[in-house]
Amino acid sequence: MRGKPSSRGCCWWFLVVVTLALVYDAIVYTVHKKTEKSEGAAPIPGPPGAIEKKYDDALKIAMQFFDIQKSGELGHSNRFSWRGDSALTDGSQAKLDLSKGMYDAGDLMKFGFPMAFTATVLSWAILEYGDQMAVVNQLDLAQDSLKWITDYLINAHPEENVLYIQVGDPEIDHGCWERPEVMSEKRPLTQINKSSPGTEVAAETAAALASASLVFKSDFRYSSTLLKHAKELFTFADKYRGSYSVSIPEVSTYYSSTGYGDELLWAASWLYHATGDKSYLQYVTGKNGEVFAQWGSPAWFSWDNKLAGTQVLLSRLTFFGNKDTANVGLQMYRKTAEAVMCSLIPDSPTATKSRTDSGLVWVNEWNALQNPVASAFLASLFSDYMLSSGTAKLLCNGYSYKPSDLRKFAKSQADYVLGNNPMRMSFLVGYGENYPQYVHHRGASIPADAKTGCKDGWTWLERKEPNPNVATGALVGGPFLNETFVDDRNNSMQAEPTTYNSAVIVGLLSGLVTTSSAVQSFT
Ligand SMILES: *[C@@H]1O[C@H](CO)[C@@H](O)[C@H](O)[C@H]1NC(C)=O
Ligand SMILES: *[C@@H]1O[C@H](CO)[C@@H](O)[C@H](O)[C@H]1NC(C)=O
Ligand SMILES: *[C@@H]1O[C@H](CO)[C@@H](O)[C@H](O)[C@H]1NC(C)=O
Repeated sequence: MRGKPSSRGCCWWFLVVVTLALVYDAIVYTVHKKTEKSEGAAPIPGPPGAIEKKYDDALKIAMQFFDIQKSGELGHSNRFSWRGDSALTDGSQAKLDLSKGMYDAGDLMKFGFPMAFTATVLSWAILEYGDQMAVVNQLDLAQDSLKWITDYLINAHPEENVLYIQVGDPEIDHGCWERPEVMSEKRPLTQINKSSPGTEVAAETAAALASASLVFKSDFRYSSTLLKHAKELFTFADKYRGSYSVSIPEVSTYYSSTGYGDELLWAASWLYHATGDKSYLQYVTGKNGEVFAQWGSPAWFSWDNKLAGTQVLLSRLTFFGNKDTANVGLQMYRKTAEAVMCSLIPDSPTATKSRTDSGLVWVNEWNALQNPVASAFLASLFSDYMLSSGTAKLLCNGYSYKPSDLRKFAKSQADYVLGNNPMRMSFLVGYGENYPQYVHHRGASIPADAKTGCKDGWTWLERKEPNPNVATGALVGGPFLNETFVDDRNNSMQAEPTTYNSAVIVGLLSGLVTTSSAVQSFT
C-alpha cells in the first residue's frame, strides 16, 4: 500500500499525501469497525427478505418499457397489442441483421452508444440483483431484454476493427412522426473503423458484452461469443484512440461524448470481472487510471460518464477481494466511490447542493431524472456491499454514516419518482394514479390502426387528447429544478423517456424490492 513515492518523479508528493491519508483512514476505519463489530452492529441480510409491494409493483411496470422499445421481429415475446414487427431490414445494405436492438427514446433511432450503456447497466443490475428479480418473477424478462440488445451488438461487430454504431439518420427520422411498424424511410448505417475510430462507443460496447458474458455464463457458447467480441472491441477501442464525436461530427447533435477515458476504464473493469485476467486490472490501476480516473473528484453517472460506476464496480474488489487487490490504484477508486456516496447522503458535510427543495438530486434540465436514479442505484449497490462485507461505517469528513443512510437516500429518490413529490405525480408511466398522459413517444401517441405515415402523422403529435396507448414503464425526463412538470407531447425535455432511464430505474427498483447479500464475485 505504501508504494515507492520517490520513483514517481513529479508526483511523489501527491502520492505521499494520498498514502498517508489512506493509512490514517485505514487506522480510523479499523478502530471504528472494531467498535462496531463488538457491538454486533453490521447486519448481513442473507437470502432475499420480505418483498416491498410498492417497489415490486413499480419494478414490474418499469421492466415493460424494454418491450415497447424492441425493434425487429417480436414474435411471442410481444406483450403490447399496439406493438408489432418493425425495422426488419435494418442492416441489410451491409448484409447484416441489425433488426433487433432497441429504439432510443420517443424516436426510432438506434444509437449504439446509449444502447450499449443500457445493456451494461442492465447486466450489472442482473448480476447484483438477479436473485431479487427472481423472487418477483422479473429475472427472465430482464435477461430477455438484455439479450435483445446483445444479439444486435454482436451483429453490429462484423470485423475486429469495425463496429456499426447507428442505424437511421436522425434528420430523416426526426422529420417523421410515425409508428415503427409502418416506417419506410431509408435507414443508413454509420460505422467506426480504424480511420474513423470511436473509442467511447467501442469501449462501452465491450463493457456491455463483457458484463453480459457473465449474465449468460450458463450458456457457454453464447457467453464465449460475447466475451470474444468484448475483448476484440476493447483492443480496437484502446489501440485506435479517438472520440467518435470527432471522427464523425454528425453524431454530436444527439449523443456527443465528452471523452473516452471513462469508457476505457469501465470496459477494462468489466473485462477484469469477466475474465480474471490481471492485465485488465493493471490497465485500470496503472497509468490509464492516473490519466483518466479523476481520482478524488466525484462525478455523475450517466450514458456519457461512467467514472462513478467504475469506482463502485471496482470497490467490489476492495470489499470482497483477495489480498493481491490491495493496491493503491484500487484504493483510490474506493476512496472516490466513497466521496460520491458522501455527496449523495443529504446531511453529509460534503453533500451535493444539486437538489430540488424536496430532495431530488437535480443536475440537468434535459432528462433530469437520469442523474438521481442512476445515483440512487449506485447508492443501493454501495450500501449492499457494506452490509454484505460487514463494513459498518462510511466516513465523510470525519462524520460516520451507515449502510442504511445510503439505502434511505436511494429510497428517497425512488419514492420521489413514484409520486412522493410536490406535483403528486409519478414519473414512471403506468404507476400510480397520476402519471404523464402526453409522453413524447411516437408509438404511444398513434393508434395502432392509424393509416398515417411519416408526414401526415404529425397530427398525432399536435393532438390535444392524451396518448391512445400507455407507454407502460417509461421513465420520462422529469421535473424542472422548481419542481414543475409540463405534461405536453412536444416537451421532449421533460416528457420523453429513454431506454437508458429504464436500465437505471430497473437497477434501482431491483435493489429496493427486497434485500439479500451481495455476491462476492460474479464468476
Ligand atoms: C470508416 O468510417 C467512416 C465513418 O463512418 C466512413 O465514412 C468510412 O467510409 C469508413 N471506411 C470504410 C473503409 O468503410
Ligand atoms: C414542437 O417543438 C419544436 C421545438 O422543440 C417546434 O419547432 C415545433 O414547432 C413544436 N411543434 C408544435 C406542434 O408545437
Ligand atoms: C419553473 O422553471 C421552468 C424552467 O426553468 C420555467 O420555465 C417555469 O416558468 C418555472 N415555473 C415556475 C412556477 O416558477
